[in-house]
Amino acid sequence: MKKKSVANVDVTGKRVLVRVDFNVPLDQNGNVADDTRIKAALPTIRYLTGRGAKVILVSHLGRPKGKRDDRYRLDPVAHRLQELLGRPVKKVDDCVGEEPKAAIAGMERGGVLLLENVRFYPEEEKNDEKFARRLAELADLYVNDAFGAAHRAHASTAGVAQFLPAVAGFLMEKEINLLGKALTDPERPFLAILGGAKVSDKIGVCENLLEKVDALIIGGGMANTFLQARGCALGKSLVEADKVELAGRLMAKAGEKGVELLLPVDLVVALAPDPDARPKVVPAADVPAEWMALDIGPESVKIFRETVAKARTVVWNGPLGVFEMAPFAAGTFEIARALAQSGAVTIVGGGDTAAAVEKAGVADKMTHISTGGGASLEFLEGKVLPGVAALQDA
Ligand code: 3PG
Repeated sequence: MKKKSVANVDVTGKRVLVRVDFNVPLDQNGNVADDTRIKAALPTIRYLTGRGAKVILVSHLGRPKGKRDDRYRLDPVAHRLQELLGRPVKKVDDCVGEEPKAAIAGMERGGVLLLENVRFYPEEEKNDEKFARRLAELADLYVNDAFGAAHRAHASTAGVAQFLPAVAGFLMEKEINLLGKALTDPERPFLAILGGAKVSDKIGVCENLLEKVDALIIGGGMANTFLQARGCALGKSLVEADKVELAGRLMAKAGEKGVELLLPVDLVVALAPDPDARPKVVPAADVPAEWMALDIGPESVKIFRETVAKARTVVWNGPLGVFEMAPFAAGTFEIARALAQSGAVTIVGGGDTAAAVEKAGVADKMTHISTGGGASLEFLEGKVLPGVAALQDA
């Protein structure tokens, strides 16, 4: 369902409450370590300031469990946002009540205000109606640009939309349009690549994607459980014993649906996940007893690259090996490069996969890198995201 865009409402002179996902990593000094999510919200913020709106930003940071906690204050974010915007950003120490109200009353058109971490209030995660009303009181219009938090039914992502006209920001639109098109009307062949450590994190995604894709590549730790279901010896590799049967069922489903399901044919193995390990390559069926699989092997890379080259749409979630350690990074980086060269619509989701694509030096070659981890997974599972459902239809 298409959602009404901020581009289609009058914002001039309005007080606009914008939910952003500024849940960014901080370094040891408390400074923003990765500003990707802040940059991703700039088009909406600039659009609103450029049209003379009063921009009131609300976000969470971390999981402070409903209590004020100095480690999770949004001051460093305000600082970075101000640098990126090149204009003053006022930060207040609360997100409802007198302090924000006074600051908003004193705002010029085109001004930007950042409220304090909304998760300092336990009412936020409870989606408390009174709290949502208090947030709504601050503004004339609500814009949700926090795709990364759209899978949360919280007061600032869902509840507040009951009390204000509620529309999508540009980042939200881009995320739901690109991911939505891949799921409903992809250019074919449509390939999904799933990796990461565990099958249990990706069952819903696997089930849903098997209904949609032409081919599915499974790599990373989760591939081990599928390989076990095929009768391979995995040595000391991570295998989810209680998911082997399920993996077998998913493979059978792929067969019924005519989906080409590709598993690694060879693996990079080592005695331990150690950056100084001395790895070797073995056939996927034959991991020696004391060894563990930590990356896909070169023959698998070759086959997966060929599959990527044929695809017109690729959705990728989850690294194919322990790419943080040099001896086990090649598989993930090679596939990132294959996507970059493919000419397909390429959509990358999940924090780890985004980091891998960045480290491989091809982030700017992807059609889209989702700012949502959990949110993009739930979207790919076919779930309705509460933060999206709460917005007005176009
Ligand atoms: C994320 O980082 O995935 C989002 O900001 C949501 O954060 P949460 O998992 O703490 O709700």
